[in-house]
Amino acid sequence: MSETPSSNVLVTGASSGIGRATALLLARRGARLVLVARGRTSLEETAAELREAGAADVLVCPGDVGDEAAVRGAVEAALGRFGRLDAVVHSAQVMAYGRIEDVPREAFETVVDTSLHGTANVARVVLPLFRRQGTGHLVVVSSLLASVATPLMGSYVAAKWGQLGLVRTLQLETRDVPGITVSAVAPGGTDTPIYSQAGTWAGSTGRPPPPVYSPHRVARAVVARLDRPRRLTQSGVLNPLVIAGFRLLPAVYDALVGPLLKVFALARDDVPPSEGNVFRSRPEGNATEGRWRGI
Ligand SMILES: NC(=O)c1ccc[n+]([C@@H]2O[C@H](COP(=O)([O-])OP(=O)(O)OC[C@H]3O[C@@H](n4cnc5c(N)ncnc54)[C@H](OP(=O)(O)O)[C@@H]3O)[C@@H](O)[C@H]2O)c1
Repeated sequence: MSETPSSNVLVTGASSGIGRATALLLARRGARLVLVARGRTSLEETAAELREAGAADVLVCPGDVGDEAAVRGAVEAALGRFGRLDAVVHSAQVMAYGRIEDVPREAFETVVDTSLHGTANVARVVLPLFRRQGTGHLVVVSSLLASVATPLMGSYVAAKWGQLGLVRTLQLETRDVPGITVSAVAPGGTDTPIYSQAGTWAGSTGRPPPPVYSPHRVARAVVARLDRPRRLTQSGVLNPLVIAGFRLLPAVYDALVGPLLKVFALARDDVPPSEGNVFRSRPEGNATEGRWRGI
């Protein structure tokens, strides 16, 4: 393939959900891909799928985005193999349900660290390379919850608000090199395993709020940002409405969000506290799609 912004791409969170769907879409374009996530097993499974789908080359680099050395190792491996890196899609994340007072400190901190230090590590390693190349595209998978708050997801809300602040700062700090772009894509509810993989101290399992999008649809929005960068793309038809309600009608929003969350964003089950995949990869739970049927 001729070199494009999506020729040589590193994807974090590549072994499940939106990251995996994005890698698959890029593979179908014949890209060379570097896959990063904590667990090797589901990365290897993903790599096999991508080769089958038409990827020109696939490199598996297990590592935690919270570990700067691991991120650096993956980027160096990409350079060693491909000679350059055109883009990075950063999708790695974990999630925990429960009131802030109920979620253990270590779980709260891991959710926040994955988002904040993970994104900062990726930027710290990748942007100097993009500067040397004179070009490069970073797309961060953000969330509707980077713009609104909800109960029972405090660590994730803090993580995503902070991450979007970082992304906006990175956009300002890279204005001096027109060839470098930093974009954020903010999905609403998306049918991925993140809900069943999440830790919970809320007594219930989480589920994506409707309308539930397929990860492939979000992946198309992510890949579109490689060709047409944008500061922030909302990938969810109700996102602007929810954000407007949060900002313009806070009293109404506050009265509705808790009851609506219980009905539409929590499964009607009764589960004991569980740390899910917050502290370590659970390969058996990773997949491209969840069990919620996206549109
Ligand atoms: N699904 C939704 O409804 C939704 C909505 C809005 C925004 N988002 C955002 O979309 C992105 C992807 O979420 P998803 O729903 O696709 O989740 P997912 O299916 O659970 O995938 C998460 C991926 O991140 C990896 N990962 C987790 N912690 C990591 C770490 N510390 N270092 C490296 N990799 C790590 C996981 O693999 P290992 O566990 O093996 O590391 C997995 O590959 C996240 O940024 C999330 O906030 C999702």
